[in-house]
Amino acid sequence: MQQNSRGIFITVEGVEGVGKSTNIAFITEKLNQAGIAYVVTREPGGTPLAEDIRLLLLQKRKESVSESTELLLMFAARAQHISQVIEPALNDGCWVVCDRFTDATYAYQGGGRGIAQDKIASLEHLVQGTLRPDYTVLLDAPVELGLRRARARAELDRFEQETMQFFDHVRAAYLAMADQMPQRYRVIDASQTLECVQQDISVVLDYMISRHQA
Ligand code: TMP
Repeated sequence: MQQNSRGIFITVEGVEGVGKSTNIAFITEKLNQAGIAYVVTREPGGTPLAEDIRLLLLQKRKESVSESTELLLMFAARAQHISQVIEPALNDGCWVVCDRFTDATYAYQGGGRGIAQDKIASLEHLVQGTLRPDYTVLLDAPVELGLRRARARAELDRFEQETMQFFDHVRAAYLAMADQMPQRYRVIDASQTLECVQQDISVVLDYMISRHQA
């Protein structure tokens, strides 16, 4: 296992129902096969305190949640997650595979809720300093397809109850980031069969592993 240099930070993003969990399991299997030490984690969440904040965020409630409250809770959870899990793992040379990160804030609170990008950017700077993902795998599929899958799964959380228009904005914000940051983003067509999605992910992972394990 290579553990001396700083680890690689991979985030996985996409609207609900695009298959993040299944494909994260596939990614970690590939890292196992390559003998790479990794930590797999998620946002909001990833530490006991941040998981408590996740519950606060996802719970449906009668009281309406202000956009700023939601934004600050996302970054409060993130601050804890970075200091307790992400930074220590990367410093130990472990790769970190994170189910969502700050691009989800740009997509959901920015694209979906309409919060200005510069507000999000100032919190990003405050909480993360220079920490950014090395790679972001965007699982992209038409919103309708993802929501149909997500809504068949379980009771809807506070986000899953949002309108189709909200998720259209979320998806558009992700695709805009992918356009702006082609060096970091790898967009995978998640509407294909699982086999094809995983073939595409394999190509992306093989590239990362060959680039950083050489
Ligand atoms: P999950 O269902 O993918 O675990 O994510 C939980 C929800 O939180 C999902 O609907 C997206 C939302 N979310 C945001 O709105 N902003 C964020 O910054 C993050 C990390 C998640």
